[in-house]
Amino acid sequence: MFSNAKWIRSPQSAEGCPVFTKTFAVTKQLQSATLAITARGVYEASLNSNRIGDFVLAPGWTNYEKRLQVQTYDVTELLKENNTLSIQLAKGWYGLYGSWFTPSYQRVFESREQAVLCELTLTFADGTQEIIGSDESFSTLTHGYRFCDIYDGMIFDATAPRTPLGQAVLAQNQDKSMLIPQQGETIGTQERLKPIGVITTPKGETVLDFGQNMTGTIAIDLTAKAGEVLSLSFAEILDADGNFYNLNYRAAKCQYEYTCNEGHQTFMPTLTFYGFRYVRIDAAPEGITPDCFTAVVMHSNLRQTGRIITTHPKLQQLFQNVLWGQKSNYLDVPTDCPQRDERLGWTGDAQVFIKAAAYNYDVYRFFTKWLADLQSEQMANGAIPPVIPAMVDCMISAAWADAVTICPWQLYQTYGKTEILAQTFDAMKRWVDYITNTTTTKGLWTGGGHYGDWLELTAPFGVCKGQTRDDLIATAFYAHSAELIGMVGDVLGQDVTQYKALYETVKQTFIQTFEGTYATQTEMVLALQFNLTPNPEEVAAALAQRIHDDGDKIQTGFLGTPYILHVLTRYGYTDLAYTLLLREEYPSWLYPVTMGATTIWEHWDGITPEGKLWPETMNSYNHYAYGAVADWLYEVAAGITPARAGFSKIHFAPHPTSKIDSLGAEFETPHGLARSFWRHNTEGKVIYEITTPVPATAEIDGKTYDLQPGSYRF
Ligand code: BGC
Repeated sequence: MFSNAKWIRSPQSAEGCPVFTKTFAVTKQLQSATLAITARGVYEASLNSNRIGDFVLAPGWTNYEKRLQVQTYDVTELLKENNTLSIQLAKGWYGLYGSWFTPSYQRVFESREQAVLCELTLTFADGTQEIIGSDESFSTLTHGYRFCDIYDGMIFDATAPRTPLGQAVLAQNQDKSMLIPQQGETIGTQERLKPIGVITTPKGETVLDFGQNMTGTIAIDLTAKAGEVLSLSFAEILDADGNFYNLNYRAAKCQYEYTCNEGHQTFMPTLTFYGFRYVRIDAAPEGITPDCFTAVVMHSNLRQTGRIITTHPKLQQLFQNVLWGQKSNYLDVPTDCPQRDERLGWTGDAQVFIKAAAYNYDVYRFFTKWLADLQSEQMANGAIPPVIPAMVDCMISAAWADAVTICPWQLYQTYGKTEILAQTFDAMKRWVDYITNTTTTKGLWTGGGHYGDWLELTAPFGVCKGQTRDDLIATAFYAHSAELIGMVGDVLGQDVTQYKALYETVKQTFIQTFEGTYATQTEMVLALQFNLTPNPEEVAAALAQRIHDDGDKIQTGFLGTPYILHVLTRYGYTDLAYTLLLREEYPSWLYPVTMGATTIWEHWDGITPEGKLWPETMNSYNHYAYGAVADWLYEVAAGITPARAGFSKIHFAPHPTSKIDSLGAEFETPHGLARSFWRHNTEGKVIYEITTPVPATAEIDGKTYDLQPGSYRF
């Protein structure tokens, strides 16, 4: 592929978002035509003004020096006798600039040379072929786009004439060794939402409310005079006074500036994206109405496979918020947030949420690609950067880097495919070897720098890192990763004696060092979750007591939160788990719901009950990490778990509560639909309904049943 194509770039500055064009004739009877294309930047290609494919933000986001995805489109139907191929290029993630968190990357990527590489193969009825590859015969021009990037948005002038820039020139870098076929899911435009209201704020601003925090773009359909300007600003929330607020976007400008043409026109920018619920109209052509605007959601094309259905309205809303958190942040890479000058593939966030994610949507292909990205970024000494693709040159942190063991293992559990384990096995071992080689105390992981139980509530308001000890967290995840390698090795039939022994050593050293000293909810949760205590009943009782002492309130951050309800249930405290789950006052999962949230907040106290906002330096309202609680809803509340990897056998163990009338889950396993619902009938009895596509066991009211595929009622 690409033997006849060269990397080409605009002869002038890249800032203007060049368009590459090539005209050609088809003179013989055509049988088929395919276009293979990729870019250093993001591109949208068209043939004779018809868009090729529907992948937005193609070619997606990888470490472009090491891996760059190539898309191949069948374009047979788009060809005529005389043809023009056009390729619009913009910076995309290739020109992503860093901010305060990426000192050494700052403004480095921004100046990277953007380029396009494509090859059109025409196959004729007589069996001959013609190949048109990108080269200096392509022309370049600008029109419309004055500016476009990921964080700062776009400026488009519809009155701008098509201005030739000259013939394309060869890019300096002609390397093609990093090219790979499209590996991940493509990104597409999804739901279209109309404004649910127009707000005039106390400051006099005109703000459209789309009713849902999301990731996407704004499509406009309007009639205007040439030269009239539409300018929009984006926000996730209104402040306590009801005014437009987006200081939490930090340096990301998120511009949307559109200079109108004469007459009726439509426009939808998809070479950038915005995270928003509210849109402020800063300038607009006369006569504009809310109906001119449509919010168009963008995310990776993922098939929904699971849902939680309950009569508890706030819990139902929480689940919707979890789905929206996932949709908003699964944009080729699992990102932390979609709005501020960050939007990065934080490994810790990805690993804490992956189990819930894999129930909600089919994420196998999405994660296979991202885990390959991760492996490509693993350092020579085995260390794994905290964001993938690597953009941040800071800490090699426990629980973040452990995404390398946790994510493949979860994919195996959900989908039953051993390939993902085989592909990542070496990377897992190299990661754990890194810890063994760098720790300052044998059997523990000491001496590292970590993010800790990020955002736990043992820190004062405005401080991100709480009191759970770094060495305890790091050692717990060291043990967990070593244990997972042992399990992966068994599945793959590999010799893992060394890692099994390591797991035992780390476990014993953990117990000697930390048993009896647990100081936070998270410390106890991790000891229980990873089986690192000889006295789990005692530790669980201490955890329950600690939660009571804390006022029946959750205090955990990113690391304790995904597991806390699981360990409570495992040791007989399901009622307390439901108390935490259904609590509506701050701090709790339902508190943001009572505050009108439509996504998961980064902080338990993103907005305090008094209306105070968490400092703008670190405050996202679309961060999925705490949405990990959804996996407890599937696995414990509804009670569907894989008894064998890939759900070839299922274990049902629903946990009803008198606090909710009914709850259930549906999950499309690789073998068919599994359902588990419970409800209280009028006589106060619990009715269970279970459907299994494969042989299963069910634990209902203390009795165990063996089930063959089918539907059951208890
Ligand atoms: C991100 C987090 C991430 C963290 C690392 C933040 O800036 O938004 O979600 O995991 O840094 O501690």
